[in-house]
Amino acid sequence: MQKSQPPKPNYLKEDELTQECMNLIPSLPKEKGWVATTLYKYQGFWHPAKQLQGVLSCQKHFQAQDTDILLVTTPKSGTTWLKAILFALVNRKIYPLTGQDHHPLLSNNPHMLVPFLELKLYIEDENPNLSSFTNPRLFSTHLPYKSLPNSIKSSQGKLVYLCRNPKDTFISLWAFTNKLRLEEMGTNSLEEVFEKFCRGVSLYGPFWDHVLGYWEESLKNPEKVFFLKYEEMKEQPELHLKKLADFLGCSFSFKEKKQNMIEGILRICSFDNLSNVEVNKEGKLPSGEDCNAFFRTGKVGDWKNYLSAEMEVCLDKICEEKLYGSGLKF
Ligand code: A3P
Repeated sequence: MQKSQPPKPNYLKEDELTQECMNLIPSLPKEKGWVATTLYKYQGFWHPAKQLQGVLSCQKHFQAQDTDILLVTTPKSGTTWLKAILFALVNRKIYPLTGQDHHPLLSNNPHMLVPFLELKLYIEDENPNLSSFTNPRLFSTHLPYKSLPNSIKSSQGKLVYLCRNPKDTFISLWAFTNKLRLEEMGTNSLEEVFEKFCRGVSLYGPFWDHVLGYWEESLKNPEKVFFLKYEEMKEQPELHLKKLADFLGCSFSFKEKKQNMIEGILRICSFDNLSNVEVNKEGKLPSGEDCNAFFRTGKVGDWKNYLSAEMEVCLDKICEEKLYGSGLKF
């Protein structure tokens, strides 16, 4: 008897699209994808078909509230970490950090506590009911600034933007997407996807356009957009957590500081702690990814173990050219 194939994980499904998405796709530039077969260029950025559908639905239906907090990241910049930090920060009165045994971060993957708009909520349902989210609502997205729903831009809601140096971002993305590929698909060679990344053809790429969109917005409107790099957070986590709390209007009180609240949040959200939580070691997201795929090394500079000297020069040069004059450096 033939063994039946296990069902495809949701992130590989490319069918059952809405009519709107099917109508749009033939008009879009396309390229071979890193995991899903095809990437489509919409509003200047690359998306697989299902993700594109989530983007369209979210743009059409999401209604921002003035108290919303939206974590925006480039893929593989530390989204999982910042989701955990923001969740612990914003909910510290409901879920105190003392006696941490029952904290939701110990029984839930951060992606379940802070859902992606276009990759979860608006992929599962074209117009989801968000009434169960308590105030302040905490969501996340990888959407470029240009593609954000208008109501987010016009509301008083706050955007926390996180990115990471492009060389580590690329290596992390290469490793992650290879984990998402089924055994029979084989893995992508470093060279093959490096060439794509350098042309801007990557999930929500071009990387440079993504970071520049939010960098420029953070300069114009620092009250609305908080711009943060993974490396900065790694280097001075306490400082940046305090700044985040101030930005979000929930500064740490003198008493909280004395109670080591800042250290408590950073401890529960640390790579060592989160990567060893049972659900993150063994669990799967409803979209099909193994939770442990979001935890690899958690280090700055791991690219040095993978990129050749030529690749390093090439990526540095592109980065320099693209970011020239912006004031942004990696
Ligand atoms: P590496 O692949 O370089 O190890 P994202 O969450 O945006 O998908 O990013 C994943 C990257 O963040 C991975 O980087 C992962 O190891 C790292 N990461 C996950 N949790 C982290 C944490 N708590 N602290 C620091 N880095 C973390």
